[in-house]
Amino acid sequence: MSQRTLVLLKPDAVKRGLVGTILSRYETKGLSVVAMELRSIDEQQADAHYAEHVEQPWYPPLRAFSTSGPLVALVLEGDEAITVVRGLNGATDGRAAAPGTIRGDLSLSNRENLVHASDSPESAAREITLWFPGL
Ligand code: CDP
Ligand code: MG
Repeated sequence: MSQRTLVLLKPDAVKRGLVGTILSRYETKGLSVVAMELRSIDEQQADAHYAEHVEQPWYPPLRAFSTSGPLVALVLEGDEAITVVRGLNGATDGRAAAPGTIRGDLSLSNRENLVHASDSPESAAREITLWFPGL
């Protein structure tokens, strides 16, 4: 079943010059880019995106990181895109993520882990509307 999912290449990906490398992982897998924009976000957008986490003790540093510089927001489309992209991204903690995944190969952090992807059809619908209201 073809799905759409919301992906962020977080500020560490932009700062480290890894946008092309990471985008290439998704494209070579066969996913299509249906929207993409370089964007700097404010705290309000960070809070809206991470609504489920705003009460976590680790949320303030995550908000600071998320607003620390430009990120790339995109929507990817393809067969089972939500699960497929989560698999390509790997586990949340880059130190524990499996080699072969984006985080496993390129991140050594539990916070600066390069990528975000929607975790369910409900999250994808909410996040795509939040980031690309016209889509
Ligand atoms: O991004 P993912 O869905 O894999 O993980 P999450 O549990 O939904 O957490 C969202 C984001 O919060 C992570 O991707 C990390 O950037 C950050 N995080 C953090 O800063 N400290 C933690 N202890 C856990 C997550
Ligand atoms: Mg999550």
